[in-house]
Parts: sequence; structure tokens; C-alpha cells
Amino acid sequence: MQAVRGMNDVLPAEAARWQFVEGVIREVAAGYGYREIRPPLVEKSALFCAAIGEATDIVEKEMYSFADRGGESLSLRPEATAGCMRAGIEHGLFHNRGARLWYAGPMFRRERPQKGRYRQFHQFGVEAVGWRGPDIDAEILLLGARFFRRLGIRGLRLEINTLGGAGGESRARYRAALVDYLQKNQADLDEDSRRRLHKNPLRVLDSKNPAMAGVIAGAPQITDCLNAADEEFFSALRGLLDAAAVAYTVNPRLVRGLDYYTGPVFEFVTDSESLGAQNAVCAGGRYDGLAETLGGRPAPAAGFACGLERIIALAAAEGGGGAAPDAYLIDVGEGDGGGASDALAIAETMRDAGLAIQCNRGGGAMKKQMKRAHRSGAAFAVILAADERAAGKVTVKPMHGGEQRTVGIKDAVQIIKSEKQWP
Ligand code: HAM
Repeated sequence: MQAVRGMNDVLPAEAARWQFVEGVIREVAAGYGYREIRPPLVEKSALFCAAIGEATDIVEKEMYSFADRGGESLSLRPEATAGCMRAGIEHGLFHNRGARLWYAGPMFRRERPQKGRYRQFHQFGVEAVGWRGPDIDAEILLLGARFFRRLGIRGLRLEINTLGGAGGESRARYRAALVDYLQKNQADLDEDSRRRLHKNPLRVLDSKNPAMAGVIAGAPQITDCLNAADEEFFSALRGLLDAAAVAYTVNPRLVRGLDYYTGPVFEFVTDSESLGAQNAVCAGGRYDGLAETLGGRPAPAAGFACGLERIIALAAAEGGGGAAPDAYLIDVGEGDGGGASDALAIAETMRDAGLAIQCNRGGGAMKKQMKRAHRSGAAFAVILAADERAAGKVTVKPMHGGEQRTVGIKDAVQIIKSEKQWP
């Protein structure tokens, strides 16, 4: 028996990385006041059709849908924004107040599996519901950027665009210009695009068919069709990002594959080889109309979701290794290398404080033990020799350069914790 194609096992050897990322998610989300929500993995298909849009790849081709015994069509969730909105409306989370939500868990899309693209994949997402101004769009982008920084992922590019606000005026203007252009180029459209031309012309720009790249490149740009209010909102967001020193480029071709977006949208993309052809690691934007679409009171909202398989592949490529301890304890002298009772006690104290400590076993000179410390992949060596023993201290040595310091156990724990590294 084999697993379903595109659905992966996370084996014990990889679980440490998932746990590490999950820890960072909790820490970063809490740092911005976001609270966890866990909507079910299965929802009524009608929810996704209404939220994501009938004429999208996700709803037309990728959902795992089935008839429940009662005859109702249910689907495995292809994303969680729809479920969060549904849950928030159902339980009154947005009544006269805002809600900052986060979630992490599996999503299901029947796409063609390849490197970085799976049929069961995991997302970490945030949804901020109830705030109208661009400062919340900036907040989620800062949160995302901090998440990547915290995982040691560098070199992501942030691309932003706007699809015009919920009033729909800019979008209607753009739609007209786009339909006009696509009609003139009908001969170059593939079957999907011809079908979507009138039903949902923006989706044509989202086509993954390489043969469509030429037509798409020549299409008019929404940034030329914005009304004053949408222009102003987008420019205010750019001002906030500039002030916060968040680098971005405006990509007028960025349209996103889900219909609920209004206003600014964005993607964090990578050029790294480790994801194959997939380059979006995180994507989202504003969706001010979704609450009403789902039968709730109007509620402005913005959010994003990151693909965790992609995040983990990137973090591993940029510095990960096997699961390493936080520190390697080197014991020279007294216990002839690791057996001394004070060394055992120090290691236990550091573990009590939440650190993973690997102790040298089998003795050996300082040089030999240091070699083993390097091999363990630990970010620090904690050295216990005669001088340290006399002073009741330990020496903390960063393995990848930097100054070593002789300090008390408590301070040693603090130093190591503040540098906790990707496993
Ligand atoms: P999305 O662009 O469909 O947006 O997905 C977000 C991210 O999930 C992608 O950038 C990618 O990293 C990851 N992802 C998507 N499909 C796959 C796949 N088949 N295999 C691996 N990773 C994948 C959404 O899902 C929206 N709900 C985001 C959002 C939240 N917008 C507002 N709030």
C-alpha cells in the first residue's frame, strides 16, 4: 500500500522542523495579538463555491468534494479563509469588534503534484477582520516578514498590487478594458480562458498555461484603471511599508487565484531552486466583501496564508541540517569527559529551562570534544573545565563565530535561548 499521490508523511526525522516552525508561528502570531482558530477540515461545498468563486481553478478542478450520506455536497477545505469567515459570522466573533485570527493546518487541492506543490499541504494563515484602514494590511505584512526573518529565510521578494476596492468601480473599469483586449486576441486564448472571458476575465491573467504568457503580458493593467479612493488606499499602504522599511515591488500582473479579493493583494516570492517551479511562499490581501457574500454583516478584512512545506524546504536549504541540540556540553577534567556529577546536573538544569543539551560521552581532550560539538550541529558549546568549576560558571561558545563568555548557568541559558536556531 502506498500513500495517496501528493499526500506526504512527515516522518520522525522531519517532525522536529515542523515543531520548530509551529513554535515560531505561535510566538510571532501572539506577538501581534492574533489568536488561534481551528475551523473544521470539511465544510459544505457551497461555502467554497460562494467564497472562492465558481470560475476559479480551485473550485472548478481542484476540490475534493463528495456527497455526504444525506446527499449534501461536502468538500475538504482547499484553504481556510472561507472557513474562518463562516465561523466568525456563525459565532458572532465580529459583532461590533475586530478579530485577529491565525490558523495552521492541512489544506487539500487536487493539483498536479510536483516539487513544492502537493495535494495535502499545510498553511499558516492570519485573518484580521473588522479594520478598514491600510494600517492592518501593513500589520499583516510586517507579521509575515517577521515570521520569515525568525526562520532565517532571507531573499524573499514582496510583490504587491491592488484589485480595486469593494465598491467595484475600478474593477468594473478594468474588466471592461480587459474584456475588450481579450476579445481582440481571442485567437490566442486557450479553451479555459475563452470560457472565462465573460464569466470571470481576471482569471484569464491567472492562467498557468505557458502558451498564454504572451497574451497575458500584453494585457492592460489595473493600476491604470483605479479611481481616486482606491489609488489613495494603495498609496497609503505603500507609504506605511516604506516607513517600516519593508521592501516591495508593484507587480500589476498579480491577480491572485481566488475571487474574494478587493483592494491590495500581495505575494512573497522566492527565486530559490529548492521549490522547483513554485515560487509563492505566502500570499494574501484584502477581502472586504466576503462577510456579506457569506450572509454576514459587512466586515472589512485582510489576511494571508503561507505554504509550510515551501517554508520548511526554504529554511532547510538556507541553513538547516538534521535536528541539532541547542548546545553541546563539553566536560574537561574532573569526570574525564562527561560523567562528572556537576556536569550532569548542569545539563539537567539547562533542560529544565527548555533547552536541548547533548553531553559529550567517552571523554577526550578539549580539541576532540570540540570536534564532536561541531558534528552535533549545536549552535553553542557549553564548556566546563577547571577554571569554570573554580568560579561556579560555564563558558558559552558560539560555534559559528562570535565571542565566548564565561557566565553563570542562568545567563548561559539566556544567551542560548536568545539565539535558538532552526533545527
Ligand atoms: P493561495 O495563494 O491559494 O491563498 O495559497 C497560499 C499559499 O499556500 C501559497 O502561496 C503556497 O505557498 C501555498 N500553497 C497553495 N497551494 C499549494 C499546494 N498545492 N502545495 C503546496 N503549497 C501550496 C490562499 O489560500 C488564501 N486563503 C490566502 C489568504 C488568506 N488570503 C486572505 N487570507
